[in-house]
Amino acid sequence: MAEVKQNFPTPLRIAVIGSGPSAFYAADFLQRQSPVAVEIDMFERLPTPFGLVRGGVAPDHPKIKAVTRAYERIARHPTFRFYGNVEFGRDLTHQDLVRHYHAIIYAVGAQTDRRLGIPGEDLPGSHAATEFVGWYNGHPDYCDLTFDLTQEAAVVVGNGNVAMDVARILARSYAELVPTDIAPHALEALRESRVRTIYVLGRRGPAQAAFTNPEIKELDELAEADVIVAPEDVKLDPLSQAYIESQKDRTAARNVEILTEYANRPPSGKPRQIVMRFLVSPVEILGSERVEAVRIVKNELYQAADGSLRPRPTGETEVIPAGLVFRSIGYHGLALPDVPFDSASGTIPNVEGRVIEPDGTFRRGEYAVGWIKRGPTGIIGSNKPDALETVERLLEDAAAGRLLEPPHPERTEMECLLERRHIHYVTFDDWRIIDQIEQERGRAIGRERVKFTRVEDMLAALADFRREPTPG
Ligand SMILES: Cc1cc2nc3c(=O)[nH]c(=O)nc-3n(C[C@H](O)[C@H](O)[C@H](O)COP(=O)(O)OP(=O)(O)OC[C@H]3O[C@@H](n4cnc5c(N)ncnc54)[C@H](O)[C@@H]3O)c2cc1C
Ligand SMILES: NC(=O)c1ccc[n+]([C@@H]2O[C@H](COP(=O)([O-])OP(=O)(O)OC[C@H]3O[C@@H](n4cnc5c(N)ncnc54)[C@H](OP(=O)(O)O)[C@@H]3O)[C@@H](O)[C@H]2O)c1
Repeated sequence: MAEVKQNFPTPLRIAVIGSGPSAFYAADFLQRQSPVAVEIDMFERLPTPFGLVRGGVAPDHPKIKAVTRAYERIARHPTFRFYGNVEFGRDLTHQDLVRHYHAIIYAVGAQTDRRLGIPGEDLPGSHAATEFVGWYNGHPDYCDLTFDLTQEAAVVVGNGNVAMDVARILARSYAELVPTDIAPHALEALRESRVRTIYVLGRRGPAQAAFTNPEIKELDELAEADVIVAPEDVKLDPLSQAYIESQKDRTAARNVEILTEYANRPPSGKPRQIVMRFLVSPVEILGSERVEAVRIVKNELYQAADGSLRPRPTGETEVIPAGLVFRSIGYHGLALPDVPFDSASGTIPNVEGRVIEPDGTFRRGEYAVGWIKRGPTGIIGSNKPDALETVERLLEDAAAGRLLEPPHPERTEMECLLERRHIHYVTFDDWRIIDQIEQERGRAIGRERVKFTRVEDMLAALADFRREPTPG
């Protein structure tokens, strides 16, 4: 071990950019596996940590958010520091980090959405799921958006779990939403919602849907919405039938079973309907001033060279009248200044987490993890093995003396820099106060929590808390 350790800088100073699941799992593996003392400084653009666990996971799924307890344990490590409200690219540059850290881990997730690239996509009433999700979860970037919920029909494009979240939140009753931590503005707007029919469009068939069993099954438990599936939509083509019968994909087989159960029974007469359509793609969003309808084309499946079943249009079209469209066809990463980026995949090019330059050479001491490393797929737990891989490569590089050689690695230097720049950073203790206030505001009115949705309100609440005399 002594030999392995000899190249390691001590303490090993690591900057982690982002504070979602991948950032915390990387911090955890570093804390547990580094043979020398490690100091982790985690920078997050929002004053609140946890990335999509706070700003993505649906408010009616509180159990999933309990994963943050494990992240809090990681944050309690004596050499861990959280610097919330500090954005890489705005408050800190790449050069700053190179001057202060032995290694940098980018864990910034996928911050934007993919586009359909069809006419009418920018009409008022056409939105990215990213925006709607951010809005109902109280993400400060999205809290001022408005959605015209006076419309009677909405179309959700895509067949992933985010599409399920969007359809479910649109279909939930006020009584179901009240106890959750949904943002107050969204709760009030959804209370007045007149949306009655929610069409969910899958471009491929039920056997290729990306959603998972609990998510499609959960739609059955909605208090005020029926799930409608046309029997002809769950009739499988021969290729899909063979795939399901091969027993290779149990999730797909169970999805087909659940959808077939929906297709085989009449609606129970609930006031809202979620209509699952398959093998259809939007080709145009219609409307003069705003969204009025969506033209869709019927698809058929064919076997691509890689063996997968892909959709292609048949030419048969149909128009669905609807005043709202949510495209839920995947998230997309954003480039960071002075960091390599592949705009097609929306990721930082890397090999097993080691960042690479466009010419294929490694960038010394720089790593990627999570959605910005592998693209916007996978559940919270998928980020664990992903983070382990990145940390293992980092520690290999440390042992081989291949990290950065910062002229000013001392922690106090970074804090001085932030203070010199008048950056009002939020510590993990500050976050705990915000967290406590949000939960107290919720408890007072029978809700899980009442989130702050503006950065200035979070900072003001912290200042007020500090001004208040402590009882006793
Ligand atoms: C709508 C939605 C719902 C989901 N629901 C579930 C679920 O119920 N269960 C489940 O298991 N998985 C769910 N997932 C998947 C899960 O959220 C992801 O696998 C996971 O969050 C990815 O982690 P990450 O750390 O890569 O990115 P993120 O969680 O996105 O974290 C990235 C963090 O980086 C910060 N950041 C970005 N840019 C900068 C910058 N320049 N400077 C500083 N900080 C920056 C962001 O603010 C953010 O906090 C969901 C995903 C989505 C989109
Ligand atoms: N409860 C949960 O556990 C939960 C909740 C939310 C999200 N997540 C996870 O987060 C990740 C991201 O979810 P996601 O829903 O954003 O992505 P996703 O699972 O990749 O699903 C994207 C969907 O969009 C479709 N699509 C892509 N391009 C399209 C186009 N041009 N036209 C029509 N449809 C198109 C895809 O169809 P094709 O399959 O044909 O490409 C797919 O159905 C997933 O891993 C998901 O499981 C988990």
